[in-house]
Amino acid sequence: VPLKEVFKEKFLVGAALNADQTNGQQPAELALVKREFNTIVAENCMKMESLQPEQGVFDFKDADNFVRFGEENGMFIVGHTLVWHSQAPDWLFVDEAGNDVSRDTLVARMRNHIHTVVSRYKGRVHAWDVVNEAIGDQETLRRSKWQQIIGDDYIQLAFQFANEADPDAELYYNDYSMLNPHRRESGIQVIQSLKEKGIRIDGIGMQAHYGLDYLDLNEFEESVVKFAEQDVKVMLTELDITVLPFPTKEMSAEISQNYELKATLNPYNETLPDSVGTKLAIAYQGLFEVLLKHQDKIGRVTFWGVNDGQSWRNNWPVKGRKDYPLLFDRDNAPKKAFQSVVSLVKE
Ligand code: G3I
Repeated sequence: VPLKEVFKEKFLVGAALNADQTNGQQPAELALVKREFNTIVAENCMKMESLQPEQGVFDFKDADNFVRFGEENGMFIVGHTLVWHSQAPDWLFVDEAGNDVSRDTLVARMRNHIHTVVSRYKGRVHAWDVVNEAIGDQETLRRSKWQQIIGDDYIQLAFQFANEADPDAELYYNDYSMLNPHRRESGIQVIQSLKEKGIRIDGIGMQAHYGLDYLDLNEFEESVVKFAEQDVKVMLTELDITVLPFPTKEMSAEISQNYELKATLNPYNETLPDSVGTKLAIAYQGLFEVLLKHQDKIGRVTFWGVNDGQSWRNNWPVKGRKDYPLLFDRDNAPKKAFQSVVSLVKE
């Protein structure tokens, strides 16, 4: 039974798609997506550097194909992401001399980008990750260029502009490590500061890049409950669970020359041992137990990628490893983790 049937009437289930897929170069993966999922998000093609690589010069080719695929298959289409400090084009924050632009200039650039993109897909893209990763690891708001040049209210402005451009699209705030108590509190503050000013926010996306040694289910549940209390939809937007060890910064720098270290950090280069596949299945099962317990609060669960072979995890935080973070293997076959999740809802 496909995932979208298993979790029907509980929450939407989806995947992030890359441009090769929606441009037709990966028919097997695309067939899997049609069979299993009822919602999609753009992994990279709707980021600002992709859509507006040069000021005022928009490139919608990949994004158009992505949206068309979703429409043809009746899917809930999510755009990712309008305002982010990463994957921003080089020109965005600077003037011709290379100095920071003024607040007014950056607000105008933001407004133009959001209006152009959201209006183009009005009524077709159902929801937007309006602002991505605005929370700092120490402080409430990350000291990004957006924050430094405009001020904390850049978040409000982004939501206002998105709402102007498509009042019917759902508008989300999206961030990582939302089970961390400091980051959870900051997330709540972001939601509240919008609501206090009467600015619409419809949901919070918990990115959910977890690991076998990074998934505290109690903290996770606490976040789901606390976010839901803010009267927003709660979503798992970028779900994957790495089975690989997390290197220190020093290790990452050393790895290209040090083969022993490389083997330590990339232990399943040939195949994934059954025992690790089982650990992954148990981790996914635990997570989905919590999701099902709170299904009234959860709007959507989206995996960050279709199968293990294409996951960004193979290249982060170390390039060229072999990871196994998703429910489908490199041949698109369902893994033990798929069975463990599906078995929770067998009637
Ligand atoms: O497309 C170019 C290709 O032409 C070039 O030859 C190649 C050489 O490195 O790079 C390709 O671009 C890469 C792109 O992915 C497409 O594959 C970039 O280098 C690479 O940095 C980029 O990584 C993406 C990353 O965001 C960038 O920050 C990942 O695919 C994508 O999964 C990841 O997604 C983010 C979410 O948007 C936000 N949350 C975290 C998540 C994981 O980092």
